[in-house]
Amino acid sequence: MIDYDLLKMAGVAFGSGKGDLTGEKIKALGGTRALIVTDKGIVNLGIAAKVAASLERAGITYEGFDDVMPEPTDALCLELADRAAKLNFDTIIGLGGGSPIDAAKAVGLIAGIREIEEIEDLHEYSGIGSRAAVAAKARRNCILITIPTTAGTGAETTQSSVLTSSRYGMKYSFMGPASMADLCIIDPLYTVGMPKMPTVHTGLDALAHATENLVGITNNDYSEIMMLECIRRILKYLPVCVEDPQNVEAREQMAWAAHNAQANGGVPNGHAIAHAIGSKYHIVHAHACMLVLPMVIRHFAHTSADQIAKLADLFGCEKGASEEETAENVAQAIKKFYKSFGYTNMKETLASKGVNVDEETFAESLVDFTLDDFKSHLWNPVIHDDPEKVKAVCRLIYTEE
Ligand SMILES: [Fe+2]
Repeated sequence: MIDYDLLKMAGVAFGSGKGDLTGEKIKALGGTRALIVTDKGIVNLGIAAKVAASLERAGITYEGFDDVMPEPTDALCLELADRAAKLNFDTIIGLGGGSPIDAAKAVGLIAGIREIEEIEDLHEYSGIGSRAAVAAKARRNCILITIPTTAGTGAETTQSSVLTSSRYGMKYSFMGPASMADLCIIDPLYTVGMPKMPTVHTGLDALAHATENLVGITNNDYSEIMMLECIRRILKYLPVCVEDPQNVEAREQMAWAAHNAQANGGVPNGHAIAHAIGSKYHIVHAHACMLVLPMVIRHFAHTSADQIAKLADLFGCEKGASEEETAENVAQAIKKFYKSFGYTNMKETLASKGVNVDEETFAESLVDFTLDDFKSHLWNPVIHDDPEKVKAVCRLIYTEE
């Protein structure tokens, strides 16, 4: 048995049709006045209107903010927090994919920090920032509800928001207990009909979370059961969602897997490099995660040999004569899986974007951002804080076929 600690968990309301109960749930928590943080896409899909209607039925007044852009900046979150405080909202709702949810969670944490001190630069409150301890003790004085409209990020259930620094340009994790939602409302019907590529981008992100959690250093007897089941469902149902976007059963399975791949798992350890790749080369998050994942598996070939053998079973690939060989077989199976959805290797991806960069420049360019990502320091023994090791891993990611 491996010792473990379970952090405070968000409440969960899961199931098709649960979104219609949003107003009722908020009322039960004591909320009366809600700020809905979302984006134009969710408004255009009619999902924001459904949530608003449920608030109206419960007698909850609300205002919508639908200008959250992908990879929200910390400046936007500070602006939203000002607005929430000025207009006295007692409930913040993050509705959408990862970006609106992360923005809403950040608003909750900002409010808590401001009870303690003035904020100069939000980046200082990242996991390795000089003010991280303040973020850790900040407490939120409003209700926070998260409602995912995709099956992938699991952002609804973590206490970390991935923000883009307005000052430095890199992505970082702004985190603290005050960013943990009071309640996640997961309605798989919101994902039914989602087109192929958004389904792939979100579903493969969930695969990265579950796999990295399984083989990483925070794996434990509790999370392992969950991660193996998440991976099993993703491998089975993501292709079904792509082939048959209206399949409710497959969407429910993916919504369950995406949520639980982040609930109670450790922080994914390949994500530090994936975030750096995303920031520098604007490659879709899940695609960057997939390009990193084979390296993560190889790195943990010995220390997580049991888990990698179980992955081999799930992917239906042969176990090798050695732990390295099994890890290599799993790495190849992961590549085959992501390529089946149209993802290309790193060199082809960079070329398709018109980016002309050689191996050494590519590796060098990722070091600072990777080391800044708090996960690289706290969770990632692949790279820890040695720039040369980061570069070595990035060279291999560049040359992976
Ligand atoms: Fe992710």
